[in-house]
Amino acid sequence: MLSRRRFLASLPALGAACPALGQTCPAPPTPDDEAFWRQVRVQFPLGPNRVYFNNGTNGPSPWAVVRAQQALMDQLERTGEYGSPEPARQALARFFKVAASTISLTHNTTEAINHLAWGLPLRRGDEVVLTDHEHAGNALPWLHRAKRTGLRVRVLALAPTAAETLNRLEGLLTRRTRVLALPHITCTTGQVLPLAQLASLAQTKNLWLAVDGAHGPGSLPLDLSQLDRAFYAGCGHKWMLGPKGTGFLYVPPALLEVLKPLHLGAHADAGWVLTPQRQELTGYAPTAHRYDYGTQNAATYAGLVAAVDFLEGLGMARVAARGQQLAAQLQAGLLALPDRVQVLTPTEPASRGNMVTFRPLGQDYQAFNELAARRGFRLRVVPEHGLNAVRVSTHLYNQPAEVGRLLELVASA
Ligand SMILES: Cc1ncc(COP(=O)(O)O)c(C=O)c1O
Repeated sequence: MLSRRRFLASLPALGAACPALGQTCPAPPTPDDEAFWRQVRVQFPLGPNRVYFNNGTNGPSPWAVVRAQQALMDQLERTGEYGSPEPARQALARFFKVAASTISLTHNTTEAINHLAWGLPLRRGDEVVLTDHEHAGNALPWLHRAKRTGLRVRVLALAPTAAETLNRLEGLLTRRTRVLALPHITCTTGQVLPLAQLASLAQTKNLWLAVDGAHGPGSLPLDLSQLDRAFYAGCGHKWMLGPKGTGFLYVPPALLEVLKPLHLGAHADAGWVLTPQRQELTGYAPTAHRYDYGTQNAATYAGLVAAVDFLEGLGMARVAARGQQLAAQLQAGLLALPDRVQVLTPTEPASRGNMVTFRPLGQDYQAFNELAARRGFRLRVVPEHGLNAVRVSTHLYNQPAEVGRLLELVASA
């Protein structure tokens, strides 16, 4: 693993101030230490003039991730060997403060959510709660299961504060409610839901909490050991800045026997016999490995290990603070332009993070997005649920000056 000191030393400008291993580094950089963050930015292939505000869709990887993948791919192709994704399971487990036996490696968040939607023992008429801000990746697996097996989907209208959202959720529960299938952070407005309170509500009411965590890992520090009775599905290709097509499902030990594997392949079993005399699947692997199946791309997972090292090298608290500070700068700037935009992202500090969504006033949101694209900004439109808005994601490679330029465009558009 690349230690924080080595990572800092590897950055050209800081290298001079932190010259050798074994010596004490300078004070850790703060979220507004622009010289430091400029050095972080040059760790990315992302072009210097590219103003990329769409990390919520796809996180550009730093060179360290690109090179780790390339190096393992070269090695495997030179030898013809298979490689192993296991180091990634270990790295994710360390990053999320849980045992490696609780992590299944998937190809994306959606695959992990499908494991949940199809693996939980639910009956016709059982109810699952979703929100009115879902991404297709969380909506479709549950709607599919509802269509095929007669589940009932209830829709929670999110409120701008955590307390009101929790109130509304409690009001929606019935004696048939079984699952809360909720996003940790919505893709529409970047609203952060109160994970700890949701987990405790689910436990009190004896419900399963199935978290769509597409936007959690890499955008805020995550201690999944706190979720000892909840599932968490996430990916490596957004805020973790990892290779595309990497994901995971966290299944705490207490729920391993509850969630049935959807697919089964080599190493997901606890033994099997297939002879003319006897045909038997003895059981499932005693860990969350039971949800993995088939060949995985070891080079891709080597890149995910490098992504974890990169974020750990910087420190997740610092990474989160940087992204949130830029988003707060943007939100404050937009709120000061009430005749130009309507800000849809909650202002309550606990309910906002690294994404800000706004609706241009007096201008079509698609037209504004196209104008912004012509000026070099990569944003994301939010047509979902009729929001007709524009979303801006801020991460560690963005600069306050980029946010400032976007605000100028909004003011002048
Ligand atoms: C909230 C949310 N859930 C699920 C997904 C799907 O994620 P993946 O592409 O990793 O399957 C996304 C993707 O943008 C998302 O924003």
